[in-house]
Order: sequence, then structure tokens, then C-alpha cells
Amino acid sequence: MTEKKMKKLGYQVIDVIVDHRHNLSSKRVFNKPDFEFLDSMINPTMPLEADDPTAVFKELNQMVSEHVTHIDHPRFFSFIPGPSNYYSVLADTLSTGHNVFAGHWMGGAYASMVETRTLDWLANIMEYPEGSGGIFTSGGSMANLTALVAARENKLPEDHSKGTIYYSEQTHSSLSKALRILGFKPENMRKIDSDEQFRIDTTALLTTIEKDVKKGFRPFCIIGNAGTTNTGAVDDLNALSQLAKEHQLWFHIDAAYGGAAMLSKEHQHKLKGIGKADSITLDPHKWWFQPYEMGCLLVQDRQTLKKAFSVQAEYLADTVGDSREINYYEHGVQLSRSFRALKLYTFFRCVGLNKIGEDVSRGFENAAYIETLLQQKDYWEIITKPYLGIISFRAKLFESEDKNDALNAKLSQHVLDNGYAMINTTQLKGHTALRMCPIHPETTTAFLDKTFEIMNAFIERKNANSL
Ligand SMILES: Cc1ncc(COP(=O)(O)O)c(C=O)c1O
Repeated sequence: MTEKKMKKLGYQVIDVIVDHRHNLSSKRVFNKPDFEFLDSMINPTMPLEADDPTAVFKELNQMVSEHVTHIDHPRFFSFIPGPSNYYSVLADTLSTGHNVFAGHWMGGAYASMVETRTLDWLANIMEYPEGSGGIFTSGGSMANLTALVAARENKLPEDHSKGTIYYSEQTHSSLSKALRILGFKPENMRKIDSDEQFRIDTTALLTTIEKDVKKGFRPFCIIGNAGTTNTGAVDDLNALSQLAKEHQLWFHIDAAYGGAAMLSKEHQHKLKGIGKADSITLDPHKWWFQPYEMGCLLVQDRQTLKKAFSVQAEYLADTVGDSREINYYEHGVQLSRSFRALKLYTFFRCVGLNKIGEDVSRGFENAAYIETLLQQKDYWEIITKPYLGIISFRAKLFESEDKNDALNAKLSQHVLDNGYAMINTTQLKGHTALRMCPIHPETTTAFLDKTFEIMNAFIERKNANSL
């Protein structure tokens, strides 16, 4: 390709991205194109001969702009949103454009140094001591998997057949998945009940550990939650850390959703004790506003990761250097890996942690505002108050709870179809509930008012029809 052609194609992509970010709030949120439409748009014939790149990019630009659900939309309130940010998009483009390698110091010294520095900043935010370390991963699931390998290899290096691990039934499914990948059987996994506020029952936890010891099991790890996906619940991190210490267990905290709260001056106290964990999962592609894929595992003692993952080979011998020069292939699963750190590093530098903290606080304010909107109508029941930027609730019109379950499912579908906002259901206390996670810093109270106008009108119509 000529230089001129390369630039022209590139500038077109940038134009589309900038246009997307500027006009996002006027777009509908939910887009699930028909299977038949996608089937017709994506030709099954293998492309043996080249297409015209200008035409290909024209099609791609249109498909990606118009036919995807906008997870980065300020009215996407489902699951955990991914607001992203433009500086990191550019940084990602830069590192991809140079195909920077971040697997070891020899092949990527600058990348490794940026990763080390950025991890140090995160460790500092999490109140970790000197000597801590970590690794950037594809996301929270991979960070959790990496943590469990570290826990197993450091606590039960020889034989883990009798090893048992403890976590609340509200813990993210990626941890059960990681345990399955690691070869643990259901009989090694202990799902502990949670209390009314969906925090792990620490008394039940202690009893279960003691029973297991008596039965000849080898408890080796407790997982705590710093922001569950369902409701944003935070386990009693100090109590868990104390229990782990007394029984010499690895203490892992899944802060994939909630870890960013440490940036909010007003709310960081809610994660008190987080720095006592042996490992912490963070997920910068959530509330740290990074594009996918950007997860992170921090460990209190950097050597624990090396112990778990360092496997040498003759063709890698030349990469072993000065102890300060971290080879990230020795901290995780991947050898060849992209320069993920650059996007977070760039974002921190271009925006500054103080402003990012204010943006995180906006999520808390939005969730508190939603609570006031719910209080205005009798048919809303708040299931969990907004502790960590997530609020769960349900509409109650009928005596029959089954009918109310169906109503809430229909309401969610109505919001999706309407397109103005996106809200999904979950199951809480045996019933269908709605949950909102309004952490996008560009979410306004006007957006929230309009979303509730749409929902209230639907419920009031249903009510009138049923009378
Ligand atoms: C608490 C929690 N842990 C782990 C994960 C998994 O993270 P990822 O989707 O980045 O793999 C999520 C995802 O929503 C989460 O909310």
C-alpha cells in the first residue's frame, strides 16, 4: 500500500471513531440484528481473492457503528458497562500499529517498564506494600484464573487433590470456571451462603473450614468479593483476611467490578482491608474506563507469581536478566502478549487520577439518584440500596409474585426494544429483579429521568389494563 493510501484508510477509521464518541448519546443502545441479516452481510464464501480495501472498510465502519449494542453508551445500565475512553483507544492503536511485544524484557523493555510502573501505581492505590507485583490480563476472568494458580502453587504445590476453596454463592461465575479449568472437582469447592445484603456469612465460613479440616481436607484459599456483579456487595474483607491468616490460607479478592472505588475519595472506605489480600483482581475495562481487553491481577508478593508461572526453556535462556527486569511471561499464562499496559498508562497520564476519581464518584451519585426516582412511585420495591454503584429493584403490581416476575422480565424487554436505555434482569431472593449499574461518567440525571419515564409509563399502562 502506498503511504497516501495507508493514511487515507487510517484517517477514515479515526473519523468514524470520533464521530461515534461524539454522537453516541443520540444513538439507540440495544442492537441485536436478526440472524438472517448478519448471515446475509457476512459472506460465507472464503475470500480467496482480494476485495477493494476501501469498500471493505466502508462496510466495516458501517457495521460496527450501527449494528452493535453500545456497551460504551451512557445509557447502557446492564451487566457491567464498558465506558472506555479515547486516549486509551489511541494508545492501543499505537501499540498495535507497532506490534509491540510485552512477553519479556529482552523483546519489550519499554513495554515491561511501563507495565511495571502502572502496576506499581495500582498497587499503591490498593494500599499494597513494597515488593508487590502483578500482571495485565485479557480481563477479570483471566486475572481470577491466574490468582487461583498462584494460590494453588504457593499453598499446595505438590498435591491439591484434597484442597478446598471457599467463596460466597454471590461470587462471579469466572471463579467456578477457573476452578474447573484447574481440575478442581465440585467436592473441592465450598459455596458459602450470603446474608440479607449478599455478603458472605463469615460464621458459616468458619464452621465449614473447621469441618473440612476434621474430615481431612486441606483448605487453601478464601475468595472475598469487593463488589459483586449482582448487587455490588462487599464482603467483610477484614474478617476474611483475619480468618485466612489464622488458617494459613491464601486470600484472594475479586475486585473486578468494585476496585475502582479506591479512586473515589468519598467511597474508598467501603473497601477497607483490601490491601491485606494476597491477590486482587482488578478489571480496568470496567470502571477504570479502558477499552477491552484489559484485566489485572495484583499480588502482595511478586515472587508468588514467579513461583507459580516460571517455566524455563533453552530458547528463553537469553531473556533472563537483571532481577529488576521483569519478564512478564513468568507472571502469567501468555508468552507472546500485547502491550496492554500502554492504554492504562496513557489514560492515567492524560486525565490524572484526581479527575478519574471524580468520574468514578459520578457512578455512585447516579446510583443514589436512581434510588430517589424509585422512591417516587409505590410500585417500586428496592431490593438492594446502592452501596457500590449498583442498585437492584423490582416493580410490584400484583399479589402474585409469579406475575410480578413476569412483569419485570417484560419491563426489561420493553426498555431494550425501546432502545433509549438498556436494563437487564437478575434473580435475587428467589425473584426476578432489575439491576442498574450507571457508572458511565457521561450519564446525566436527564438520561435517568427519561429512562424512568419510559419504565413508569409501561407499568402504569399495565396497571390500567389489569384493572
Ligand atoms: C465481579 C466480577 N468478577 C469477574 C468478572 C469477569 O471479568 P471479565 O468479564 O473481564 O472476564 C466480572 C465481569 O463482569 C465481574 O463482575
